[in-house]
Amino acid sequence: MRNFLNISEVPSTELKRIIASARDMKNLRSGRSMGEPDCDARLSGKLVALVFEKPSTRTRVSFEVAVRQQGGASVVLYGSEMQLGRGESIADTARVLSRYIDLIMIRTYDHEAVYELAEHASVPVVNGLTNSSHPCQIMADIMTYEEKRGAIKGRRVAWLGSGNNVCNSFLHAAGRFGFNFAFAGPTDFQPGPDAVAFARASGSKVELGSDPVAAAANADLIVTDAWASMHDAELSDDEKLRKMLPFQVNSDLMAKARPDALFMHCLPAHREEEVTSEVMDGPQSAVFDETENRLHVQKSILRWCLGV
Ligand code: CP
Ligand code: NVA
Repeated sequence: MRNFLNISEVPSTELKRIIASARDMKNLRSGRSMGEPDCDARLSGKLVALVFEKPSTRTRVSFEVAVRQQGGASVVLYGSEMQLGRGESIADTARVLSRYIDLIMIRTYDHEAVYELAEHASVPVVNGLTNSSHPCQIMADIMTYEEKRGAIKGRRVAWLGSGNNVCNSFLHAAGRFGFNFAFAGPTDFQPGPDAVAFARASGSKVELGSDPVAAAANADLIVTDAWASMHDAELSDDEKLRKMLPFQVNSDLMAKARPDALFMHCLPAHREEEVTSEVMDGPQSAVFDETENRLHVQKSILRWCLGV
């Protein structure tokens, strides 16, 4: 039984195996309709709980479809409708769900809550986003980069804007997959120091600055995300214009990167804020491939956790 809580906690060889297996599953599905099961469905007889304490479109649908195509079944639970929302402890919720369910995926606020759930559950736990990381998203992003451009090892990834949960998981991946990372954003929106330290200690070159052009220069991949995450207060119009707009990913910024650079965003996007529609709908954008690969890579993560 294995948990998937952070990319930094899974060895590189295992992460690469998970992505290779996702690629195989994706290839094998070619031509099938969404409702058809995979030919190598390994979750038959397995029941998965999908717990959401924050909104979701992609994570909810991609996990549900992943489980179903692999022959299993899922139960979707919203925190506000559970006793968790009325004060039942995480530890007791973990013990209870473990009596009914084979695996728990959770999207929540505090990262420590995921560890607490994993500590008290007797089934695997998968992190479907916390305030400080989003590992399933970045596994899909690495898969997407590599299927379009080859190995990400040694490449330069530039992150623009807010150093948030998704950015932290990218830094974990920099350490595990051996790429370099350049961050440019306002000084009070820097990524987590632990994630930066992890990437550096693993041998990645990490630049932290507030010059968007310097970060984007010669980048192989430009990434951004919403300026305010679900757990953040909304930014005022003044903050958006003054603080964040210099880090908007637009055509001028993309032109600083390598000519074959890709653009990624985990979505949902705020068009004309962190990214212009011209870039998001342009030829370098891989945003909807990232979305699709959530499905394939999460099947692989579920199988890895369950050892099937
Ligand atoms: N990218 C992502 O996790 O999207 P959702 O919030 O829609 O799940
Ligand atoms: N950083 C965003 C990611 C959404 C998928 C958030 O946490 O709201």
